[in-house]
Amino acid sequence: MSNSPLILAVDTSQIDVAREWIGATREYVGVYKLGLEFFLKNGPQGIEELRKELDFPLFLDLKLHDIANTVAGAARSLSRIAPDFLTVHASGGQEMVSAAVKELPETSITGVTILTSLSAENLSDIGFALPPLASAVKLALLATGAGARAIVCSPQEVGEIRSAVDPGVNLITPGVRPEGSELGDQVRVMTPKAAMTAGANYFVIGRPITSLWDPSEIIKSRSAMAQRTREILESL
Ligand code: C5P
Repeated sequence: MSNSPLILAVDTSQIDVAREWIGATREYVGVYKLGLEFFLKNGPQGIEELRKELDFPLFLDLKLHDIANTVAGAARSLSRIAPDFLTVHASGGQEMVSAAVKELPETSITGVTILTSLSAENLSDIGFALPPLASAVKLALLATGAGARAIVCSPQEVGEIRSAVDPGVNLITPGVRPEGSELGDQVRVMTPKAAMTAGANYFVIGRPITSLWDPSEIIKSRSAMAQRTREILESL
């Protein structure tokens, strides 16, 4: 399997489509991210179904946030799948994060700091006293102090968090776009190279690759996706 820093966001609810995307990009992708869209439709069986044919490192992006006892139970329910990464909201608190860590010792429990979709004003509205960057650093320290081995943060925060947390913690950043690509709904973006230079270990990218999929042109789509993925890696 590739040890590439590229995490592909497999944002689809269709097992067949996920299989195609994974199959087309395996040579260049380090980890595949399956999130709520896929999981709520297909459940753990959907993941097992995918893994029957293709073995791949899994980033399960469920962003758990509940009382510690409930998160412990949810994590326990994933022990068969044993994802390589599982996201929890760091703002759920130390006890909640360590409950997940305890249940899934082989998984890198991954703390989500501040959603990049929230502005400084949004944060203040929901009662955060500190600005986004300071809040993100504080939450990263809380999560890693509770045993999280990875952190999701915006590329803008990666440098600051890199110097605050243990060097062994993996920093993962979405909100990246290759030079010259469409921004879509991502606003404060960096290129993959800039995010890696700032201290990220992995970057998450989806639509710049997956929007090349056209179910009426399967062969062409596979090779276009593989080529775009390779170009992104070559740009690092
Ligand atoms: O398609 P795109 O490259 O924008 O996909 C980015 C992925 O990262 C999506 O799965 C999205 O949910 C996720 N993400 C994000 N911003 C965050 C957290 C997660 O874009 N702050």
